[in-house]
Amino acid sequence: MILQRPAVTVENVQLAERTFRIRLEQPEIARSIRPGQFLMLRIPETTDPLLGRPFALYDTVLDSGGEPVGLDVVYLVVGKMTTHLMAVKAGEPIEVWGPLGNGFPKFPNIDQVTCVAGGIGQTPFLAYVRELLGTRGYAGQPAVRQVNKVSLYYGVRSAGFAAGVEDFRQAGCDVRLASDDGTVGTKGFVTQLLAADKPAGPFVGCGPEPMLKALAKLTASWNASCHVSLETPMACGFGACFSCVTPVCTPAGRDYKRVCVEGPVFDAATLAWD
Ligand SMILES: Cc1cc2nc3c(=O)[nH]c(=O)nc-3n(C[C@H](O)[C@H](O)[C@H](O)COP(=O)(O)OP(=O)(O)OC[C@H]3O[C@@H](n4cnc5c(N)ncnc54)[C@H](O)[C@@H]3O)c2cc1C
Ligand code: FES
Repeated sequence: MILQRPAVTVENVQLAERTFRIRLEQPEIARSIRPGQFLMLRIPETTDPLLGRPFALYDTVLDSGGEPVGLDVVYLVVGKMTTHLMAVKAGEPIEVWGPLGNGFPKFPNIDQVTCVAGGIGQTPFLAYVRELLGTRGYAGQPAVRQVNKVSLYYGVRSAGFAAGVEDFRQAGCDVRLASDDGTVGTKGFVTQLLAADKPAGPFVGCGPEPMLKALAKLTASWNASCHVSLETPMACGFGACFSCVTPVCTPAGRDYKRVCVEGPVFDAATLAWD
């Protein structure tokens, strides 16, 4: 069930260049959301921007008794909404609706899952790492270890944009970095690092479309399973406006799916990439 609720900002802290983590107190949504799902956020009492914007769940926040009471979202400042968001202070309200979308696949009895992120595409993976390694349960489900190892291949344009790397390492994830300018990790695209290492799959990716397209092609050449989470711009977030459609391949030919309800996570083999 999608809930539309006011939330109170607990903190809004800078993690990296133009990248912030906002913590919102909102127990009802925190109790029902799972990794790979997303939220729409809107600044109240403004018409510019009028529409909310989609953001992945970074993780839920637990109280001292282990109960979910809040939501962490990590955002890159790119335009109107995120510029407003950057100025929000503790105690100020934000409108939130969620949980939205389908979430990441579960992989019981698999040895390793490899997550691949580009740009701000690392944000949905922290909660997923914790779910896969069984250190957190989500949406009322108990914490159960599903896999032995989770790796994150994370590509950024330069060192200053790498956000949350310590969060991933502390969650038990093996992190491999790549950067366009070589200021952190291996110089080059994250898909080049992935191709050189050829780690075990299944693979799950999130980031700019050209990166996801390269990932889909690479993993297909390995005959490996790959899911991708799309960052398509959205207006409503709950299936009503069709502003978010993406082309897919079906046995009957090309069709369109709404990223906000049928996604944002798709089997890469079903997407029409051209
Ligand atoms: C399911 C989902 C999860 C997301 N999770 C996160 C997240 O965790 N953290 C985060 O920082 N962002 C995330 N995004 C992207 C985020 O929604 C956009 O960055 C945000 O809407 C920008 O709003 P704005 O008003 O600041 O920018 P706008 O003023 O709307 O746009 C500024 C510029 O950015 C471009 N732009 C806007 N949105 C996108 C986009 N999705 N892809 C490419 N270019 C775009 C516009 O064309 C414009 O040039 C997610 C998107 C989706 C669909
Ligand atoms: S954003 Fe409105 S249908 Fe997807």
